[in-house]
Amino acid sequence: MTNIILLGPPGAGKGTQARRLVEEWDMVQLSTGDMLKEAIAQGTELGKQVEGIMARGELVTDEIVIGLIEEKLNGDLPGGVIFDGFPRTLAQADALADLLAKMGQRLDAVIEMQVDDDVLVERVTGRSTCGNCGEVYHDVTKPQPADGKCSVCGASDFRRRPDDNEESLRKRLMEYYKKTSPLIGYYYAKGDLTGVNGLADIETVAGDIKKVLDKR
Ligand code: AP5
Repeated sequence: MTNIILLGPPGAGKGTQARRLVEEWDMVQLSTGDMLKEAIAQGTELGKQVEGIMARGELVTDEIVIGLIEEKLNGDLPGGVIFDGFPRTLAQADALADLLAKMGQRLDAVIEMQVDDDVLVERVTGRSTCGNCGEVYHDVTKPQPADGKCSVCGASDFRRRPDDNEESLRKRLMEYYKKTSPLIGYYYAKGDLTGVNGLADIETVAGDIKKVLDKR
């Protein structure tokens, strides 16, 4: 069983790489961003509570996301977990350590996806996602198939996120630097951190992550 965190700013490629790891390593992707977006799409109380916060690019409360993760960790997770977009604050990191300890588990690696801020605007404003299976595309680096159908599931329902605009991205980046980037030092001090070059192409990044996992 392998448990890893993908850490990096919005648009660093966490979701893209997490999906590959699910296929190749039989792991489960736990994305707090996806869970919250699903709650919004379903119109639940939680969705109504977080919709405005997310559209503005701010973080939702620790209590909410820790609760979501705790619920998922009670399920069946045979191959291990890829934490994508969680933890994002020191309180979330401490809570995750406690939850894993209670389960008799540990973190195997924290992979910091290192990118320059300049590329993030292009990545985020060019992103689209399959509304059916969640496959992630990009107008330039990974265009939607010419036949208009998702290459993974064949659906033709491509979506763009309401927070994928430059203004919201600036806010998300500020939140990242203020609240999430301290986790780099936190996990470095614990000896868990490995950096990968997130500016490389998707295949190369996947290969570099594989090397980290192979070394464990
Ligand atoms: P979330 O959904 O987690 O968004 P995010 O962290 O802002 O990350 P993104 O999904 O934008 O980027 P990514 O790194 O996954 O990049 P991707 O692979 O798609 O969170 C959304 C919101 O939910 C937050 O703002 C907050 O409000 C709330 N939230 C979530 N978790 C929370 C928490 N724990 N605490 C509090 N609040 C929370 O790639 C981006 C694009 O680049 C794609 O088009 C892709 O095709 C392309 N791309 C990827 N890799 C490459 C590459 N190597 N080369 C070229 N292009 C690439």
